[in-house]
Amino acid sequence: MTYASGAAAVRGVGLSLQAGQKLGIAGESGCGKSTLALALLRLLPPGTSLSGEILLDGEDIRTMKWGRLRAVRWAGASIVFQGAMHSLNAVHRIGDQIAEPMLIHRTATGDAARRRVAELLEQVGLPAARARAYPHELSGGQRQRVMIAMALACDPRLIVADEPTTALDVMIQAQILRLIERLVAEQGVGLIMISHDLAVLADTCDRLAVMYAGRIVEEGPARQVYDDARHPYGQALSAAFPRIGDPASRHAPHGLAGDPPDPSALPGGCTFHPRCPVALESCASDDQALRDAGPERSAACVHVGAPVHAEATVRSPR
Ligand SMILES: Nc1ncnc2c1ncn2[C@@H]1O[C@H](COP(=O)(O)OP(=O)(O)O)[C@@H](O)[C@H]1O
Ligand code: SF4
Ligand SMILES: [Mg+2]
Repeated sequence: MTYASGAAAVRGVGLSLQAGQKLGIAGESGCGKSTLALALLRLLPPGTSLSGEILLDGEDIRTMKWGRLRAVRWAGASIVFQGAMHSLNAVHRIGDQIAEPMLIHRTATGDAARRRVAELLEQVGLPAARARAYPHELSGGQRQRVMIAMALACDPRLIVADEPTTALDVMIQAQILRLIERLVAEQGVGLIMISHDLAVLADTCDRLAVMYAGRIVEEGPARQVYDDARHPYGQALSAAFPRIGDPASRHAPHGLAGDPPDPSALPGGCTFHPRCPVALESCASDDQALRDAGPERSAACVHVGAPVHAEATVRSPR
């Protein structure tokens, strides 16, 4: 995935997700997490080039016709962004905004749409009467609940949540995470949850992928990756988040100097080598593919076992 500027922000990513499964994607700011989320629904800016396959229930989102893509957004897969205030329209009542995807996709109209809005508000823990409120009348946590209700409105198969709780304080963050977890479990929806915070993901997700400089450098069962990361970058991230929601660790994790590289000027060899505490001399010239790192685990580091083949697709929940 390359932006018009020439920045290859996401490279060689292969991930798959089953219905009801929760996949976490972790990494510092600038590692390509949002670019990957936007690519999944073809929401990237014009001029961006994208290669490979993005399969949702077997259909390739990358090559889909525009009309079909429009139908798939919300109804097939929907996205929850970080800043709910910026995603909601300040001059429309939230009930109308939740109903909008239903009206566009004709999944409900009139009274049926109103009933569905009330039901969705209750599912996300808001009184149905709040449908008449404007965004500024709600707290940050309530607005994020509205965004989740909107994402659920057309019964999608997949929800992509990009830093859904980062703007919220720790108590509200925990409530929203529990809400997302409950809804995903109840409705058998696939969830891709993106965060810079490995502890949040380990607590919420089944599997965890760690991104660095646009690539997946480690993948495996969430708890194992958090407790016992195999890639030096995964280790640094997990050491950086001893507690859920530590905002100080958003950029450079503790003990790890520097920043992720600019995608238009990536270092040669392993892109992590300039920051890696255990780099070998060969790391400056030899790039590493994902290797087998134990049952259902892989990591891209010279210190980890034998090479395995990564898939080249992002698969749908079903
Ligand atoms: N529209 C864009 N044009 C060019 N480069 C971009 C654009 N959006 C993001 N980038 C670059 O792509 C890289 C990854 O960004 P992003 O996906 O937002 O990372 P993250 O979500 O992990 O913080 C960053 O270096 C960022 O500067
Ligand atoms: S391949 Fe080398 S530089 Fe890269 S993470 Fe492993 S030890 Fe560090
Ligand atoms: Mg982001």
